[in-house]
Amino acid sequence: MDVPALEVSGVSKDFGRIIALRSVTFAVQSGEFVSVLGRNGAGKTTLLNVISGISRPSDGSVKLFGTDPNDRVNKAQLAVISHEMFLYGNLTALENLEYYSRIYNVPDAKNRIDTVLQDVELKHRRFDLVATYSRGMTQRLTIARALLHEPKLLLLDEPFTGLDQHAIGMLITLLKKQKEMGRTILLTTHDLHTAAILSDRYLVISKHKIVRDGWMKNSSPDEIRAAFFSAEAGENDS
Ligand SMILES: Nc1ncnc2c1ncn2[C@@H]1O[C@H](COP(=O)(O)OP(=O)(O)O)[C@@H](O)[C@H]1O
Ligand SMILES: [Mg+2]
Repeated sequence: MDVPALEVSGVSKDFGRIIALRSVTFAVQSGEFVSVLGRNGAGKTTLLNVISGISRPSDGSVKLFGTDPNDRVNKAQLAVISHEMFLYGNLTALENLEYYSRIYNVPDAKNRIDTVLQDVELKHRRFDLVATYSRGMTQRLTIARALLHEPKLLLLDEPFTGLDQHAIGMLITLLKKQKEMGRTILLTTHDLHTAAILSDRYLVISKHKIVRDGWMKNSSPDEIRAAFFSAEAGENDS
């Protein structure tokens, strides 16, 4: 079997007295679409930060394509879409994408920029300063920026939050396309409906642990909902 795209082994993370993750173990094979479900404070963002190498686990280890998340080769294979935009407000959308194309050595950058701008429906606004963008537009540009270098592994932290219905539909289409291209996708959400539409597999995090790891096609919506709400109210620090 090929080396997994992602391997999380016995990962725990605490911030002083606050526990964020407890002995989290799972692997994701290349091409899988996995949704990480959990309520506020469950540990979803912490998990993504540990996977992307932004944050170091207190215990356990993470491997991307068999190596450390902070290995240089992984930077080219990874996209992180989170609330941190990594965009420059004093540059236009086009200038931002040109800048990142250079950083990532994107081949045929002009065409690639064109494609991602079209994908997120921002081509007509490419000459405008990002500082003048609405929140949803900024978020769409963040997605374009993250996909620019055609990463093999996409990590998305609550990507639908703050998008209107139209933009949600656009992102769903975009993610389905990424899936068809064989990309591996891990996203966190508290929206069970969208998770059910998109993913092959779901993990439920509750009280900082994985309490369920299942296949969407084998689970009824009621089952998934039950796992999601299994934690007693107040146990997650929402
Ligand atoms: N940098 C930090 N310092 C202290 N506590 C943190 C930090 N980041 C997260 N936490 C805590 O870890 C727990 C999990 O948070 P988080 O991963 O953001 O949850 P989620 O994304 O599921 O809402 C929460 O109790 C949160 O307050
Ligand atoms: Mg979060």
